[in-house]
Amino acid sequence: MRKKVDFLVIGSGIAGLIFALKVADKGKVCIITKSNVEETATKYAQGGIAAVMYTPDTYEKHIRDTIIAGDSLNKKKIVEITITESTDRIKELIEWGANFDKKESGRFDLAKEGGHSEYRVLHHKDSTGLEIERALLNKIKNHPNIEILENHFTVDILTQHHLGKKVNRKTSDIACYGAYILNPETRKIHTVLSKLTLIATGGIGNVYNTTTNPLIATGDGIAMAYRAKAVVENLEFVQFHPTSLYNPNERPSFLITEALRGFGAILKTKDAKEFMHKYDERGSLAPRDIVARAIDNEMKLSGDDYVELDCRQLDRNELISNFPRIYAQCLSTGIDITKEMIPVVPAAHYVCGGIRVDEYSRTSILNLYASGECASTGLHGANRLASNSLLESAVFSHRASIDARQQIESIDFCDEIPDWDAGGTVLNEEMILVTQSLKELQSIMSNYVGIVRSNLRLKRALDRLEIIYMETEDLYAKSILTVNICELRNMINIAYLIIKMAMQRKESCGLHYSLDYPVKKRNYS
Ligand code: FAD
Ligand code: SIN
Repeated sequence: MRKKVDFLVIGSGIAGLIFALKVADKGKVCIITKSNVEETATKYAQGGIAAVMYTPDTYEKHIRDTIIAGDSLNKKKIVEITITESTDRIKELIEWGANFDKKESGRFDLAKEGGHSEYRVLHHKDSTGLEIERALLNKIKNHPNIEILENHFTVDILTQHHLGKKVNRKTSDIACYGAYILNPETRKIHTVLSKLTLIATGGIGNVYNTTTNPLIATGDGIAMAYRAKAVVENLEFVQFHPTSLYNPNERPSFLITEALRGFGAILKTKDAKEFMHKYDERGSLAPRDIVARAIDNEMKLSGDDYVELDCRQLDRNELISNFPRIYAQCLSTGIDITKEMIPVVPAAHYVCGGIRVDEYSRTSILNLYASGECASTGLHGANRLASNSLLESAVFSHRASIDARQQIESIDFCDEIPDWDAGGTVLNEEMILVTQSLKELQSIMSNYVGIVRSNLRLKRALDRLEIIYMETEDLYAKSILTVNICELRNMINIAYLIIKMAMQRKESCGLHYSLDYPVKKRNYS
């Protein structure tokens, strides 16, 4: 199949859907999603979306909190853009039908999470992402100009490389002409030509053993942009959420929202002793990097497999009414959170870096935008402030749409792009070759490139990765493509980038903590 669309959107989370909605009156939009349309990290977001709504909160305070959490590695201009546009983007989500909890007074019931100096997190109980995804999909499904291709996998974006021209990261006019899309049912690869393309493929959590991310989060968009010679950055800053439910048999790990700590839950060791005050005066509500490292250290000191989160002192009815999903999930594993402590461990949760974009979400490749978790706007610096990512997606998909609406008239399709050539490939009959390599990869990343790193661990990780890389490239070249092989290849690519960027950073900073360099605290200015 060969197809032409004005706008190609890869991903159906908050970033993809907002962009699609905002450009659809300018041309045909095709959204590609590798699972069913709702299966996104967006759907699982619990705590909420941060925005400045009322005094005593101010844009200045939110900007300051974001930069302090980010260890001052943030791009200040981008932080200012994001925060000052936050209120308008929230109003828009509400106009589109998203409901956020309110108090009896009619004002929003704002929550507080780690690193926030004010109550500013809008939420829908503990299922905020699901509510946003529902509202956006409701609008999208009725739109005559938007088509959604579910269960289709984007293999690579198309550039001059596919016309036989040599490009490298210094080539200034690399352009995107669409993408090759695999239909796993027919095993056919389609050519979708587009005038403008948005990569909104989400995160990378599955590179690690333990993650809160859904199975779709395999870094595909970042890997395909990197292969197409786009600039990628800051991938060493992988955020581990301090509190995922300890349940070794479950993948992904169920998140215990930080809003629960904002509500008064306290971190304790297994023998019910508080420990966070030893690490930070903000206690259980210190920024995530600090809390995750503290838990990691406590687990190493005690030899325990988890620490505990204690909610027993909280009002029972309010606890259940505000966190119904967490209450039900824990109960299903035999834990009544009103009576027992919740066993928790840190889990890979969010990647702060990704495909570098400017203030209109333009990548270094012409006609290609990136938004959402796969993009690196510079908002998060070395560590994301909780609940800033849904906001970032809303702001930068909006900004990408402003640019795309202006550009679309002046762009033509590139009809010369050839169809995919599968010549000489055969079906890989041995799935073990893929599944075993994936397990090895996840174990390398968790053991050597996790919360605490060192030069020796990183070197060892790179050496081990090299073997899996060579084997997988060989398998990829010989095989009729499947989603599993493509995802493995992408995750190896992401792992390589995380390790390389971690090796290049000769300091401890935000989420990158190295035993070889003394902690150097940057100053907020
Ligand atoms: P996603 O929502 O992950 O969507 C990615 C899309 O890309 C999916 O449709 C997927 O199928 C598609 N895709 C990927 N690869 C391909 C491919 N090769 N071909 C075709 N399609 C592809 N952030 C907050 O701000 N507040 C929160 O409270 C919060 N809670 C969270 C809780 C959990 C459990 C998790 C995992 C994350 C949370 N986050 C939160 C982070 C936030 O949810 C994500 O960063 C955000 O939703 C990412 O949105 P996105 O649109 O970029 O990607
Ligand atoms: C949470 O609810 O703790 C997650 C919030 C986030 O990742 O921003």
